[in-house]
Amino acid sequence: MTGVLVTGGAGGIGAAVARRFARAGARVAIADVDESAGRAVAAEIGGLFVPADVSREQDNHSMVEAAVSAFGGLDIVHLNAGVGGAGGAGDDFDIDRYRRVIAVNIDGTMFGIRAALPALTSSGGGAIVVTSSLAGISPNPFDPVYSASKHAIVGLVRSLAPACSASGVTLNAACPGFVNTPMLASLRDVILEHHLAIAEPDEVAEAVESIARGGETGNAWMVQAGLPPAPVTFPTVELSRAR
Ligand SMILES: NC(=O)c1ccc[n+]([C@@H]2O[C@H](COP(=O)([O-])OP(=O)(O)OC[C@H]3O[C@@H](n4cnc5c(N)ncnc54)[C@H](O)[C@@H]3O)[C@@H](O)[C@H]2O)c1
Repeated sequence: MTGVLVTGGAGGIGAAVARRFARAGARVAIADVDESAGRAVAAEIGGLFVPADVSREQDNHSMVEAAVSAFGGLDIVHLNAGVGGAGGAGDDFDIDRYRRVIAVNIDGTMFGIRAALPALTSSGGGAIVVTSSLAGISPNPFDPVYSASKHAIVGLVRSLAPACSASGVTLNAACPGFVNTPMLASLRDVILEHHLAIAEPDEVAEAVESIARGGETGNAWMVQAGLPPAPVTFPTVELSRAR
């Protein structure tokens, strides 16, 4: 039976992914800082809840160990926990929030990949999908630090994927546009005023499953309302030659 671990699985996109895999018959572990919501989703799907703050390296190892010991192994890991909102380069800049966004979004992804790799390798291979964002492949003037952190995740995925392949593990980034979750609540009305599409978390969950099961690696996949996931085409950079 497939073993799945989802970080940030207590709500929003992560909860939809956890429910989707559970419906497909997988055993699902949810890791989150929100214990009451996380336990509620885990109880609903007959899964496991592990309290974890992904910005702490040890919590990443603990959540993987808990899932492996409960399920006998792991096959798919969705590193999805993320936060935003550190302001810009002016008076709105919030240094504590800046450090938190970097810690959760970048440290959390790097620590999560490092913790998940040995477990997936022991299962004979598997898949890691990290949640980046369209803000990770295009500028977002409304939340620049968030955008920078999501670009960093795409860089990690593209740079680490070849080494992961050697262990039979695929590594991809899902890059959703606007998604109808608590994170988007304050922007929802403005987005609708501009007639932009908002995806439901279930649509993103479907995309995450197809990316995880698709066998490709090292890609950043655009995930937009009403469209199938599409890989971003990055330029091929020719290195200049020494003269
Ligand atoms: N909602 C959107 O429009 C949108 C668009 C693109 C990307 N994303 C990304 O999708 C992911 C999920 O976001 P969402 O919209 O479902 O948001 P959400 O706020 O609804 O859910 C985020 C979950 O992550 C958990 N979390 C936060 N910090 C954590 C930490 N340090 N350790 C463990 N868990 C933590 C929260 O408790 C929550 O359950 C995030 O990485 C977000 O950046 C969201």
